Amino acid sequence: MQTQMKAIEYTRYGSPEVLHLKDMPIPTPSLNEVLIRIHASTATAADIMMRKGDPYIGRLYTGLKGPKRTIPGFEFAGEVVETGSAVTLFKAGDKVFGGTTTLGCYAEYACISETDVLTTMPDNISYAEAAPVNGSAITVMNFLKGLGKIQKGQRVLINGASGGLGTYAIQIAKHYGAEVTGVCSAKNMVMVKSLGADHVIDYTREDFTKSGLQYDIIFDTLGRRSFGDCKKVLTTNGIYLSAVMNLPLLFHMLWSKVFGTKKAKVSATGLLPVQDRLAYFMELKEMLRTSKIRTVIDACYPLAQVAAAHTYVETGRKRGSIVISI
Ligand SMILES: NC(=O)c1ccc[n+]([C@@H]2O[C@H](COP(=O)([O-])OP(=O)(O)OC[C@H]3O[C@@H](n4cnc5c(N)ncnc54)[C@H](OP(=O)(O)O)[C@@H]3O)[C@@H](O)[C@H]2O)c1
Repeated sequence: MQTQMKAIEYTRYGSPEVLHLKDMPIPTPSLNEVLIRIHASTATAADIMMRKGDPYIGRLYTGLKGPKRTIPGFEFAGEVVETGSAVTLFKAGDKVFGGTTTLGCYAEYACISETDVLTTMPDNISYAEAAPVNGSAITVMNFLKGLGKIQKGQRVLINGASGGLGTYAIQIAKHYGAEVTGVCSAKNMVMVKSLGADHVIDYTREDFTKSGLQYDIIFDTLGRRSFGDCKKVLTTNGIYLSAVMNLPLLFHMLWSKVFGTKKAKVSATGLLPVQDRLAYFMELKEMLRTSKIRTVIDACYPLAQVAAAHTYVETGRKRGSIVISI
């Protein structure tokens, strides 16, 4: 019986070179955990932040001197190979996908609590297509559905339409019946259009905040445009959503909560209760099963090349998701 697995370890914060491939013991599931043979994970902005220990305030949670949890990776898709004695929701052989804030997914095996964001995979998608859904697509649901209360017929603009969040956001906004405008560069316009965008704006040629057209929701997945910039192209009760938090935005969020009809909103999806994230995840599973949404994969890297995957993510140029194939 195999007792060792390959995994990525990091023992200090820093550049991608802190990530090393290592042999480690396969973990044993506790009472309510499942042991998953992981087939795919992802490289995302969140993984980069964890690896760098940046922002510093996050180290209060991740470890002041160095990472407390030394195997990175939040997202996974794989197969249940063993279950703890109290597990009732899953069995060996189930193909599952999800995400965990306890990390450990850059490995051949990981133990995940059955009550974490975990469910069985729809039959029509691959492990690579399943792994990125947890972080990016749940975030889009939190923003568009949770904060934005997206409605059929609304005009919705997605800034950063070609990225990990943006590629899901276009499809999810269409799923809710919105008229969708995607903002991306020329090289990604065909792809964004193919995801269902009704209109596409090339940000290198046109500034959407100066177009005069108005939107009910502007979702800035990259936090590149301020509430002040976007306000003039929001409808009277329009909502500006930013996936990236900063101090001016927090001020605008508090200010607009009390004054005016146009609102700025921000949220940290990873801090939502597990049951809220799981509820979004189950809706996404149905959208995947019925082919209402799909995952756009830019590239797949083998586990041994996680550092290269992180380096690429940090260029800020990826299209859709980066998958780690294990
Ligand atoms: N608040 C939350 O709950 C939450 C959760 C998850 C992620 N996030 C944050 O969300 C952010 C976005 O993540 P992501 O994975 O979607 O990013 P990403 O995939 O790395 O974004 C890259 C894409 O952005 C495009 N882009 C670059 N500059 C642009 C510009 N000025 N205008 C429009 N598009 C531009 C690039 O296209 P070109 O190469 O063509 O420019 C590329 O396709 C990250 O900062 C992450 O930390 C927040």
